[in-house]
Amino acid sequence: MANEKSTFAQAPADKKKLESVVIIGLGYVGLPLAMRCAEKDYETFGLDLDKKKVDLIKKGQSPFKEEFIEERKHLLKKITATTDPAILKKADIVVVCVPTPVDEKFFPILTPLTSATEMIVKNHKIGQLIMIESTINPGICDDVIAPILTQAGLKEGKDFFLGHCPERINPGDKKWNVTNIPRVLGASSPAGLAIAKNFYETIIDAPIKLMGSIKEAEACKVVENSFRDINIAFVNELAKSFDKLEIDVKNVIDGAATKPFAFMAHYPGRGVGGHCIPVDPYYLIEKAKASGFDHKFLRVAREINNSMPAYTVESMQDLLNDIKLPMKDTAIGVMGLSYKADVDDLRESPAIKIILELKKKKAKIIRYDPFISSMSDVPNLTTFLKKCTAIILVTNHSEFAALDPKEFKKNGVKAIVDGMNCLDKNKIKKLGIKYSGIGRK
Ligand SMILES: NC(=O)c1ccc[n+]([C@@H]2O[C@H](COP(=O)([O-])OP(=O)(O)OC[C@H]3O[C@@H](n4cnc5c(N)ncnc54)[C@H](O)[C@@H]3O)[C@@H](O)[C@H]2O)c1
Repeated sequence: MANEKSTFAQAPADKKKLESVVIIGLGYVGLPLAMRCAEKDYETFGLDLDKKKVDLIKKGQSPFKEEFIEERKHLLKKITATTDPAILKKADIVVVCVPTPVDEKFFPILTPLTSATEMIVKNHKIGQLIMIESTINPGICDDVIAPILTQAGLKEGKDFFLGHCPERINPGDKKWNVTNIPRVLGASSPAGLAIAKNFYETIIDAPIKLMGSIKEAEACKVVENSFRDINIAFVNELAKSFDKLEIDVKNVIDGAATKPFAFMAHYPGRGVGGHCIPVDPYYLIEKAKASGFDHKFLRVAREINNSMPAYTVESMQDLLNDIKLPMKDTAIGVMGLSYKADVDDLRESPAIKIILELKKKKAKIIRYDPFISSMSDVPNLTTFLKKCTAIILVTNHSEFAALDPKEFKKNGVKAIVDGMNCLDKNKIKKLGIKYSGIGRK
């Protein structure tokens, strides 16, 4: 184990800027953060297991499409990207941004996090600030990460300082990014909290709320994403009920949202996706279960949101029944594959489940996403429309939402399920095309 001294080991609360940062995990969270550190003149290293990703960054190219990165591409070359964990010996600060997914039974997978911590132990520099930005459930820092460090003989407050500052980044968001989203911060010791605060104040132009403990900081993030999951589940349930009651749920939510207080509009859709909303609640559910508490409400919300892709395909089945077309062998277009608009991120996307459901019913599937050409069956929207008898709109990419409904008619599309309620329902119906939104017939 390396024994170099960090520049701030003796002066934890010193406002002086620290020198070097290693970001572990150069994904949607880690890469923008590394770019921000480089912009703020930290000597910035990026460590990732994925050699392809590292090679692209070395060439000044982003491994994924993200406007924040595109606009600051020059900063990529200021990051020293590597797959070599020995780089950690140089770090005053290590920020861990590795994935925290769930397995097929929705159980948290912590191995990326524990293996990153083991890499830190093997390549440790005394006095290092170790920050976890990955989303974790309350207790992971104290019960899983700190023990790996201390069992290796390292002492908290002397050899290392451990903190958690959950990332709240929202890929594709034009307003909120790593530079301006307020943060919450917790640490294992008051000295660690002071060091971490100094670091984040140099890179973030937004308030940083200091939490009473590292556990409170961990809990903030799972609460934020569970809040969103629950609210979306509520409107998804309303959508199913209003489909039966023949009420347009979108119009109702827009109406309710005119109340200037105590209502927050959430909208239904074909299911939630991405690395956060469909995953993070399970971290809380499992942690609470291990402590003897059943998060019934969260479990129901997950169940409802997980049911939406199948519900979307059922809606298509209903439309096809109306026009006496079988699902089997009918050309059904999946319009959009990514989990949200104008990004190329396929993780946990409802499109995956929708395609599986369509396969079960033996439909002839045509996939198209302008952001994910590797998984598209056609090169462009024009060819897509020409080939489809019916369409399930999965992603509200700007290009799709702006499409003139006449284009559907011109190309002979007979039925549309609008999985994001983003198309002009009335215009489409007037053109004689069968339409169903989610809670919006
Ligand atoms: N994507 C989001 O919108 C978002 C927002 C807020 C928080 N988060 C959280 O941030 C964390 C990272 O998410 P992401 O979207 O950036 O993931 P990602 O998959 O885009 O990136 C993670 C990177 O870590 C690398 N990696 C995995 N294990 C590693 C290891 N042991 N050592 C080095 N590199 C390793 C992977 O190769 C990958 O490049 C997760 O906990 C997630 O829940 C994500």
